[in-house]
Amino acid sequence: MLNIIIFGPPGAGKGTQSDFIKEKYNLTYISTGQVLRAEMAAGTEIGLKVKDIINHGGFASDEIVTEIIEKFIVNHPNTDGFLFDGFPRTVKQAEILDELFERYNLKLDGVLSLEVPEELLIERMLERGKTSGRADDNIESIHHRFVEYENKTKPVLHYYQDKNCLHPINGVGTIEHIFSDICSVIDKL
Ligand code: AP5
Ligand code: MG
Repeated sequence: MLNIIIFGPPGAGKGTQSDFIKEKYNLTYISTGQVLRAEMAAGTEIGLKVKDIINHGGFASDEIVTEIIEKFIVNHPNTDGFLFDGFPRTVKQAEILDELFERYNLKLDGVLSLEVPEELLIERMLERGKTSGRADDNIESIHHRFVEYENKTKPVLHYYQDKNCLHPINGVGTIEHIFSDICSVIDKL
């Protein structure tokens, strides 16, 4: 079994690389951002609760997100492994993931951290915003996503660094080249 977190700031390429990783290693994938966008689109109770916050670049509550994650883990008992994208995003979420892993007898193999400078992230998200329909791909929301990332998500890096499972990856370059760097790391896990 192989359980991996793909980590990185908004626009770092987590979703793009996940598509390749989950195929190659046969992993069960979840992007909490994608799940929350689907809840918003379907107008569910959760969707209505988080819509304004997310569209302005803020975070959904730890309670909502960890409930989504627990359901996801419980629903896939026979998987070859999990790939988490966009979760955990706060230290509280990382602590809860540790508890869930213990409860369901799972082990975290590694955290792949995509590193990309802010100017390039902004460029990528503004470009995507022209066609993505994502309400948070505008300059105001992007700035707020960066503030949230700095304040709440960066501490998660130190959390995993202290556990010796953090693997920095250069997220600048072609998608293929970055994927090949990721595979070199995963193959050693
Ligand atoms: P989420 O959906 O996770 O968004 P994000 O973290 O802001 O990241 P993105 O999805 O925008 O970027 P990405 O890293 O996946 O990059 P991508 O591959 O798309 O979360 C959205 C929101 O949901 C959050 O702000 C929060 O409100 C809420 N949320 C989610 N999880 C939560 C949690 N755990 N707790 C609380 N709230 C939560 O690439 C970006 C663009 O660049 C694409 O257009 C892509 O084509 C392009 N690109 C990718 N790689 C390359 C490359 N190598 N070269 C050139 N272009 C590239
Ligand atoms: Mg994404």
